[in-house]
Amino acid sequence: MPFPEKFIDELVDRNDIVDVVSGYVRLSKRSGANQFGLCPFHSEKTPSFSVNQEKQIYHCFGCGKGGSVINFIMEIENLGYRDAVAFLARRAGMAMPQEQEDAESRKRARMLALNKDAARFFYEQLSTPGGSRARDYMARRRISPATAKNFGLGFAPDTWDSLEKAMRQKGYSDFELADAGLVRRGKNGGFYDTFRDRLMFPVIDVRGSVIGFSGRILGDGEPKYMNSPETLVFNKSRNLFALNLAKKSKSGYILLSEGNIDVVSLHQAGFDSAVASLGTSLTPEQARLLSRYTDQVIIAYDNDGAGIKASQRAIGILEKLDVKVKVLRLEGAKDPDEFIKARGPEAFRKLLEGSESQADYRLRNVTGKYDLTQDEQKVEFLKEASDLVARLPGAVERQVYAMRVAAMAGVPNDVVADEVERRRKRLVRSAVRAEAREQERPERQSQPNERELRYDDPVSARAEEGVIRLLSLDPELGKQPGMPPPEDFSSEALGHIYAVLLERIRRHLSVSSANLGEELSAPEMSLLVRIQQAPVSLQQGRRALEDYINCIREHKEQRDQKNAPLDLLALAERQREKGKRYTENG
Ligand code: CTP
Ligand code: MN
Repeated sequence: MPFPEKFIDELVDRNDIVDVVSGYVRLSKRSGANQFGLCPFHSEKTPSFSVNQEKQIYHCFGCGKGGSVINFIMEIENLGYRDAVAFLARRAGMAMPQEQEDAESRKRARMLALNKDAARFFYEQLSTPGGSRARDYMARRRISPATAKNFGLGFAPDTWDSLEKAMRQKGYSDFELADAGLVRRGKNGGFYDTFRDRLMFPVIDVRGSVIGFSGRILGDGEPKYMNSPETLVFNKSRNLFALNLAKKSKSGYILLSEGNIDVVSLHQAGFDSAVASLGTSLTPEQARLLSRYTDQVIIAYDNDGAGIKASQRAIGILEKLDVKVKVLRLEGAKDPDEFIKARGPEAFRKLLEGSESQADYRLRNVTGKYDLTQDEQKVEFLKEASDLVARLPGAVERQVYAMRVAAMAGVPNDVVADEVERRRKRLVRSAVRAEAREQERPERQSQPNERELRYDDPVSARAEEGVIRLLSLDPELGKQPGMPPPEDFSSEALGHIYAVLLERIRRHLSVSSANLGEELSAPEMSLLVRIQQAPVSLQQGRRALEDYINCIREHKEQRDQKNAPLDLLALAERQREKGKRYTENG
């Protein structure tokens, strides 16, 4: 059984590599992020053994050994992976996973049970005489009792200890309540309810467990919302409000809004795929979660400056995951709730049908910045809009939008088309140049210094290294369709590293080097660390990935052809094709 990744992460956290290595090596010199010392694995007079505290890895420029703190202990104490882990756990005073896991899963189960009981308590309070304030508030916001039930909404009474008393009676301790964020400790050492006199929204995860709460004040006042703190079971940035309901929707898309009230109101109006991001702007983890349930997200954020900013960020994050994104234009209303109340569900449905693609949305934002009746501003508009269009991935898409921009500015189509083409060329050129610079870096031209490994096809190997570097930085790239099979790699070692990364990405596991120690051999590990050390920009990640993959494919074909028995027929065919192309082009 592999160690849980959280355990390894904590192990690495608690055994800072500089501390550990300093027990064996005197680190003195310093250059940039690296500290240097004499390598303990080969004899040398000038320090070429480097430790990078930020990345928590070591690497010797002399003998090529490298890896995480675990590899270091394996190497220097001559231990296997598991023994090295145990060694470091002892050093940090940590319990080994099995003991830890049992205690933690008991605690987690107990906290979920408590949350569920608390949710039931809040729900029951809605129908008590004391709950009339919440009932009135819901009526004012036009939330029906059926909707309240569907979401498990509730009421936290206006007292200091109703929940605390009720949960104590059920056998939970104050400390358990405090761990779950349901009570807080006062100055006098007593405990008091966190949520008081609030409309309660339980946050339910996709498995149906109550993991936390949001409480809205009944009417005006500050703070408008209170949320459960981060707990053993609640992590705001990894969950979405109402995804437990939305995941069952048949609509084929997910509606992403800002507010709990918006979500409740949308579901009540029949839009049962609405979720909200729990008061943060969409996080990459939330986006990944969404992408498991849908390939189309329609953003319905508030119609204000903050909402526009948040939409733009969300578009970027979702696009990286190949989720199609559209943005709703809520005209004349500040949010979906207000829109539905003012104009009704039918009007909202119309809005959905006409929702904009992200390119439209961005273009509209650019348009909004300029007064197109002024010549100077028109020029600025053309520049910015052309730049936007030049960055669109598809040629057809670029053409369509170039025409639209031309129409907006009232200039001939080819003016914009030319400008777009010029900018596109410049973008491609600078990407190619960046790539060339990267290729020229001296450490990239050499064979791997891991003596056991040699590249038979250095050019392809460089591309293979590139793929591995990108995947380590942005594992999501590994989920793209069209990733080559590891067998296409020219280097067996690189192919194996790549296969391990892909498999871990597919299983949503971490690809940090400390977590790979068990699956990779020591030379492979050293190689990986060296690959990861080269700087890279993710900006052009997708493009670079494509170039690398093409290079790997071409080289694979070349190798196959070299190895295949000469097929004269195919050769003749290829030559004929070539000739034809030549004559066609004149
Ligand atoms: N939020 C929060 N803390 C606040 C304000 C907001 O956590 N002090 C979160 C809540 O999850 C809220 C979301 O951000 O649902 C959006 O905020 P807002 O638009 O103010 O709330 P709504 O739920 O839309 O409520 P209302 O319609 O009553 O304004
Ligand atoms: Mn709102």
